[in-house]
Amino acid sequence: VPAARDRLRIAIQKSGRLSDPARALLASCGLSWRESRDKLFCYGETLPVDLLLVRDDDIPGLLADGVCDYGIVGRNVLDEQAALRAAEGKPQVSKEVRALGFGGCRLDVAIPEAWDWEGPQHLQGLRIATSYPGLLGRWLAEQGVEASVVVLSGSVEIAPRLGQADVVCDLVSSGATLTANQLRPVATIMRSEAVLAGPLQPFADIRGELAQMLLRRLDGVLRLRD
Ligand code: PRP
Ligand code: ZN
Ligand code: MG
Repeated sequence: VPAARDRLRIAIQKSGRLSDPARALLASCGLSWRESRDKLFCYGETLPVDLLLVRDDDIPGLLADGVCDYGIVGRNVLDEQAALRAAEGKPQVSKEVRALGFGGCRLDVAIPEAWDWEGPQHLQGLRIATSYPGLLGRWLAEQGVEASVVVLSGSVEIAPRLGQADVVCDLVSSGATLTANQLRPVATIMRSEAVLAGPLQPFADIRGELAQMLLRRLDGVLRLRD
């Protein structure tokens, strides 16, 4: 049983696409922090709600370990962890609590511009570079396609030019990265946006009331933004 805590801790991306909108969203819920933009930890002032500034990819693990209570992270990152856990027969540990309406992107398969595409069967026997082996592996299985998945933690888009892979499966937002690398998207594996990730079960301590208040405020802010 995790130790009772009397403050909520929310993990957000330290620097990247989601960090400013995540902070702005929490600020419009009435939260404020002792200013420490470059630090790992921001101590909540108006409410006992602290921030941990981390790499987005670390957020599901921090939730799983109970280090953080909530996280603002791309659905792609959250669902990737869920897919890996499922593949390993491990139980789920966190879930999507709210979709937040920013950071929209797709997880797409992209192939060299000059190639034809007649559907997923085209991928049979190819090498696919991705940072999302869980989601890609599940999709390939659904399509009945056997391919080899080359797992890279970054710079996936250059893998075909380096000869590391034939095609890629990566996030697409504006599409500029694919275009710059002479790749074109041919299949969408998932649609993503920033989400609030949280626990499967309600908290048994004071964090339960804090969480309820935060979610009420968040719902108010999200309704106004619609
Ligand atoms: C994603 C993806 C591409 C880029 C695509 O990385 O891996 O590099 O965004 O965006 P575009 O279509 O607008 O060019 P991102 O920087 O979001 O995350 P990462 O740093 O975790 O790879
Ligand atoms: Zn990342
Ligand atoms: Mg990137």
